[in-house]
Amino acid sequence: MKSEKFIIANWKMQLDPTKAEKLARDIKRLNSRADKNTKLVICPGFLSIVLVKKALSGSRIALGAQDGFYEDYGPFTGMVSLAQIKGLGCQYVILGHSERRAQGETDQMVNKKVLTALRHGLTPIVCVGETFDERKEGNRDLVLVHQVYEAMRNVKLKPSQKIVIAYEPVWVIGSGQAVEGKDAEHAAAVIRQSFLDSLGKKNMPALSVIYGGSVSGENIAEFTDLDDITGALVGGASLDAKKFTDIIKNA
Ligand code: PGA
Repeated sequence: MKSEKFIIANWKMQLDPTKAEKLARDIKRLNSRADKNTKLVICPGFLSIVLVKKALSGSRIALGAQDGFYEDYGPFTGMVSLAQIKGLGCQYVILGHSERRAQGETDQMVNKKVLTALRHGLTPIVCVGETFDERKEGNRDLVLVHQVYEAMRNVKLKPSQKIVIAYEPVWVIGSGQAVEGKDAEHAAAVIRQSFLDSLGKKNMPALSVIYGGSVSGENIAEFTDLDDITGALVGGASLDAKKFTDIIKNA
C-alpha cells in the first residue's frame, strides 16, 4: 500500500477573494469525509489567503501559497515573503512553477526560495518540467535532472521535513490533455534519481513526486496508480468544487 497522497489545488490568479472564500467553503463541505491518507492543500492567490484560511478552519485541508520571496523583510516593493506567508498560516508553497519561470524566475531563485521555505518550516512544492521544444529536441530528461539538481543545491533536510516535486510538462498545462501515465512514470524515475544524487539515499523518504498538467477526475487514477507518483497538482479543475472533489475521490 502506498503512503500518503497529495492533492494540491493551484488557483493561480483566477479568483477574487470572495469567490475564493466560497470555493474553499464548498470544497471543505464536499470533502469532510475524504480519505485521511490523502493530504489536501489549497493554494489561493496571496490576497485570498486570510479569507480562505478562515473558510477552511476546522477542516484538515492545509493552506499553501503560489510563490514567496526569499528575503524575509525589507525594501522590496510589491514582494510577498515566505516569512510573511508562513506568518499567515501557510504550510506549503509552490515554487518554480513554469508560469513563474516564464516571468523570469531562474533556477538560482528557485533554489534560494527552497532554502528559505525550509528555514521557515514550509514544505516546498517544487515544479519541474520540459517545454514542448525541449521535449521535441529530446532534452526532457536533461531538463528534469538539471531543474531538480539546481533546486536542491545546499538543501539539508531536518528529520521531519518533506519536499514535494511536481512533474509538470509545461506544454500540457491548461491544455485539457494530460500526458500518459507511463510518460509521467518515466519522468518521476528521472526526478527521483536526480534527488537521490543531490541529497543521498537517506533523504529519499522525504520526497514525494506528484504529477501536474490537465489532471481531471477521469485521468487522476492513471497517475496515482503508479508506484512513484503520489498525487497531483491541479490547476483548472481545482476551480470547481465538484470537479476537484472527483479528483480527490478517484486519486
Ligand atoms: P492545469 O494546471 O491543471 O490547469 O493544467 C496545472 C498547473 O499549472 O499546476
